Amino acid sequence: MVKEKILVIGASGQIGVELTLALRKIFGNSSVVASDLREENDLLKGTGPYVSLDVMNKEMLHVQVIRQNITQIYMLAAILSATGEKNPNLAWHLNMQGLLNVLDIAKEEKLHKVYWPSSIAVFGPTSPRENCPQRTIIEPTTVYGISKYAGEFWCNYFHQRFGVDVRSLRYPGLISYKSSPGGGTTDYAVEIFMDAVEEKKYKCFLREDTYLPMMYMPDAIRATIELMEAPANKISVRTSYNISSMSFSPKEIAAEIKKQIPEFAITYQPDYRQAIADSWPRSIDDSVARQDWGWKEEYGIEKMTVDMIRNLQEMKGGN
Ligand code: NAD
Ligand code: SER
Repeated sequence: MVKEKILVIGASGQIGVELTLALRKIFGNSSVVASDLREENDLLKGTGPYVSLDVMNKEMLHVQVIRQNITQIYMLAAILSATGEKNPNLAWHLNMQGLLNVLDIAKEEKLHKVYWPSSIAVFGPTSPRENCPQRTIIEPTTVYGISKYAGEFWCNYFHQRFGVDVRSLRYPGLISYKSSPGGGTTDYAVEIFMDAVEEKKYKCFLREDTYLPMMYMPDAIRATIELMEAPANKISVRTSYNISSMSFSPKEIAAEIKKQIPEFAITYQPDYRQAIADSWPRSIDDSVARQDWGWKEEYGIEKMTVDMIRNLQEMKGGN
């Protein structure tokens, strides 16, 4: 078996922390180098190597790849949908140039594999709202969605033209308790749990009936690793795979939380993020991922809610 050495870029973020820890379990602590612009997340400290790295600095990135004998990169650094609308130029610049720097180095250094996540944000108001298929009308209206859609085609281009084995998933909103979300429209679905456990109430920035596709982090991490470990001949999509496990509205998740915390109360005060959510599909058809490499979720809304609250309560109690 080829010895892999993995670089995770954006390792201190919501996905990066859990993905780095999961990769370290599989490949060994010293074989997974965590990196980020910001300081090392507390949960990563003492679990393996960490380097401070700006993905926009291509030279610095290239030096790290050579110095550390990197064979795979997981490129997670990005500006998400809500923050992106506040600074569209910065979001475009980081989301595009960061990816291009990684793809160029992957080509030059003949890396074995690259992972880069896309998002349900590639879809726009003209895409089908229900069971949005893998291939359909894609006309995103946020700068984040535009950058993800362009990124998908850069991945496809580097695969077709230069043989770079780059793989991608269009994540839905991700729900987790270990590290905080980083400025997305779906962040409400994390905040609601944290506030429910801390304060028994939550003020939601989306309308009660806003259905969005969501996924629990353990499923997202497993999907990522399964995609990356699948034989190359199983990967028919080189832009990015639709992937899905559940869809719900703020009203529905609040009702589920109330089953665990009966005093929980929710109020609604929609803001600019409502328009972003309204431009995205309510549910996703991920049959191509299921067919190609056997994707199947483990968590639905009930199982996830029980697990989230149990873990947050344990953390609060200092267990
Ligand atoms: P996040 O904001 O929590 O983490 C991103 C990390 O990248 C941060 O730690 C940040 O410090 C780092 N970073 C920013 N600029 C950098 C730079 N120039 N160089 C190095 N690091 C830099 O985001 P996340 O939620 O973990 O998302 C990771 C990826 O997954 C992103 O591409 C995002 O678009 C995608 N995604 C996330 C979700 C979700 O719900 N979390 C859904 C769909 C897609
Ligand atoms: N969770 C992300 C966001 O809301 C979707 O890509 O931006």
